[in-house]
Amino acid sequence: MADKKAQLIIEGAAPIDLPVYSGTMGPDVVDVRGLTAEGVFTFDPGFMATSSCESKITYIDGEKGVLLHRGYPIDQLAEKADFLETCFLLLKGELPTDEEKAKFDSTIKNHTMVHEQLKTFFNGFRRDAHPMAIMCGVVGALSAFYHDSLDINDANHREISAIRLIAKMPTLAAMVYKYSMGQPMMYPRNELSYSENFLHMMFNTPCEEKPISPVLAKAMDRIFVLHADHEQNASTSTVRLAGSSGANPFACIAAGIAALWGPAHGGANEAVLRMLDEIGDVSNIEKFVAKAKDKDDPFKLMGFGHRVYKNFDPRAKVMKETCDEVLAELGINDPQLELAMKLEEIARNDPYFKERNLYPNVDFYSGIILKAIGIPTEMFTVIFATGRTPGWIAHWNEMISGPYKIGRPRQLYTGPTQRDYPSK
Ligand code: SDX
Repeated sequence: MADKKAQLIIEGAAPIDLPVYSGTMGPDVVDVRGLTAEGVFTFDPGFMATSSCESKITYIDGEKGVLLHRGYPIDQLAEKADFLETCFLLLKGELPTDEEKAKFDSTIKNHTMVHEQLKTFFNGFRRDAHPMAIMCGVVGALSAFYHDSLDINDANHREISAIRLIAKMPTLAAMVYKYSMGQPMMYPRNELSYSENFLHMMFNTPCEEKPISPVLAKAMDRIFVLHADHEQNASTSTVRLAGSSGANPFACIAAGIAALWGPAHGGANEAVLRMLDEIGDVSNIEKFVAKAKDKDDPFKLMGFGHRVYKNFDPRAKVMKETCDEVLAELGINDPQLELAMKLEEIARNDPYFKERNLYPNVDFYSGIILKAIGIPTEMFTVIFATGRTPGWIAHWNEMISGPYKIGRPRQLYTGPTQRDYPSK
């Protein structure tokens, strides 16, 4: 039911009445679906002002730097909830009771192994393949193993697919890393927590299973929480679009992984570390800031700016606090952190960045923590994909469990008008 009305007046045509809806938070939306019948499309490349769906999962206020998951602020979740609790919240809409949490943890733990045959998929890749290339392949391949849970119209199949994806992403991520190292892949261990298990599979070997540092496990878990969901970003919109055709959830998540890979999106965390390496020293910062401001130079300050946040990304604040905690607890004095802080200070005081409301985003500090944990740079976006899986799945499930239509945008055509093939 429309809350208000809008009227579109196009010269030479009758006014078109359009319904306007209000959400519980955020801007009103104008329902433009009726325009097609009037022979008119909207035009919004990059979807700067387009709502693709109605959702109850995550709310972002870009002006105020607010991020809520099912109404809970991200800084409170990062401090008080663990990653699996956040997964439950995103999927179910409410925080779990102690009993529900224990059951969910146990269910996830019992799905962390992957089919032994999946190991053979890795042999087709070069050892130096980019980890995201392998993740795109092996996650999509999961659909070849789970014919028992691919009926997207069956709520139980959707539930088991969600569990399998959340449970297996860390296992696959660690397998990708071990493959690149030429080391044996490690099996998950059920006595470990989700993030302890991931670090175990990443860094232990059959020769020696060292105890997992609680500091590193907590930092890893918080990084997963901070990446868990972010409304209709490029990769989540990709998952929704793939899902709207009826594709199975594993294929949809593989599509999301592919979209996340780009340096303008989830690939930015890897790009930040490479950028800091390239800058090298505080004395070079001014030169790189000038490059970022130069319209003729494609260089952008990685980890800065955001489509929605025109204030500090609330995740970046928590990430920076976690960065300080982890480096202090580990006694690491990372010159790249010093460089990043100086870069942030200079950029944020520069009129170009201030006028455009360009602030550090979630990717600016995450790489420094990941490096401190021992994660290699090329694995950073795989970590992002692992953390984002519950968000992708929650949005996919929200769409599929309600009425939806196949996503099929239109266009402004400016190509040649109809012409005949020349007679020979
Ligand atoms: C993520 O959408 C999400 O929610 C994504 C994400 C999630 O959790 O899913 O938050 C994760 O992707 C974070 C963003 C990571 N990407 C980067 O850090 C790459 C660097 N950032 C830029 O590429 C850029 O800021 C984007 C892609 C993030 C946002 O681009 P927009 O919204 O399309 O903004 P824009 O390109 O139109 O920029 C507006 C102006 C432009 O200058 P003018 O044309 O107005 O003169 O700001 C400039 C841009 O050139 N600008 C930058 C800049 N970011 C924007 N200039 C220099 N360095 C930058 N980083």
